[in-house]
Amino acid sequence: MVETSDEWIRERTGIRERHIANPEIATSDMAVAAARQALCERGMAGAELEAIIVCTVTPDMMFPSTACLVQHQLGALRAWGFDLVAACSGFLYGLTTAAQLVATGAHRNVLVIGADTMSRIIDYTDRGTCILFGDAAGAFLVESGEDSEAYIGHLHEIDGSGGDFLKMPAGGSRLPASQETVSERLHYVKQEGQQVFKFAVRKMYEICERLLEKHGLSPQDVKLLIPHQANKRIIAATAQRLGLPDDQVVINLDKYGNTTAGTIPLATRDAITQNRLKKGDLVLFAAVGAGYTAGAILWRWGY
Ligand code: UT7
Repeated sequence: MVETSDEWIRERTGIRERHIANPEIATSDMAVAAARQALCERGMAGAELEAIIVCTVTPDMMFPSTACLVQHQLGALRAWGFDLVAACSGFLYGLTTAAQLVATGAHRNVLVIGADTMSRIIDYTDRGTCILFGDAAGAFLVESGEDSEAYIGHLHEIDGSGGDFLKMPAGGSRLPASQETVSERLHYVKQEGQQVFKFAVRKMYEICERLLEKHGLSPQDVKLLIPHQANKRIIAATAQRLGLPDDQVVINLDKYGNTTAGTIPLATRDAITQNRLKKGDLVLFAAVGAGYTAGAILWRWGY
């Protein structure tokens, strides 16, 4: 489709494989599948859920929210919910929100889903972006009890001055869909890769360092860094500056590429499957993305 090579993609990004959803699959379908798996593993019924947060930049449609569609499919009759738009940092913002809702006693449980069907908004004639993104969903169930103590703290930042460097220009109120916007391919992701790369390398380290310092912790106290999976060079630079060896960093973008809000639950899942996470371990989640958005969370693993 574009002039590129497997070698370039592997060397410059670390990506080997990506998953693309079948045309009939939308974001809510993947979100429901992830949610069902989480509920099944916990032995919980959808009807027991109290809130659902769907973190996504690729909702099924502008409205109703994907959270409403998911709530209906899960039969989660008691749950309220909403979509959260923060691109690659979305899942962490959702997790922080869920942790607060549970810690205040407002809810006993909140389901946080990171789901993106990036293939629907990627321009497969643009080699700067089409080699990066994949489709995925993952879910965390945050519950009162041990999870209330699991959340240690967060540091989240947004910097709108970076808004132009990664965006989907059309389809909103600024540039509603028209024949012109479609012919100009404005409903696709536009990225100035180098700008975003430079910001990500600087910010991901800085936000981790500041969060650890705020809690009187050092990188050596962290069992695992679970970062957003955009580019292995961004993750490697962050790990190196924090002084974390490879076995303390989760990288799985070789298998999935950048799945936006999906990366952190997917990487966590792999860490669990590979027995890299035990109850009581200190986890540092970190992400940087469009907006700009950035965030980190310290979490004591609860099960
Ligand atoms: O998750 C949301 C946040 N997004 C990110 O974190 C993405 C951050 N950015 C990146 O990961 C990297 O900037 C990219 C992977 C997108 C690009 O890598 P880069 O090392 O920054 O490449 P570049 O844009 O500086 O381009 C280097 C060269 C250029 O050729 P010349 O001018 O040196 O001849 C590009 O035209 O590589 C060329 N190039 C490609 N070549 C083969 C750019 N894309 C490709 C490609 N295949 N797909």
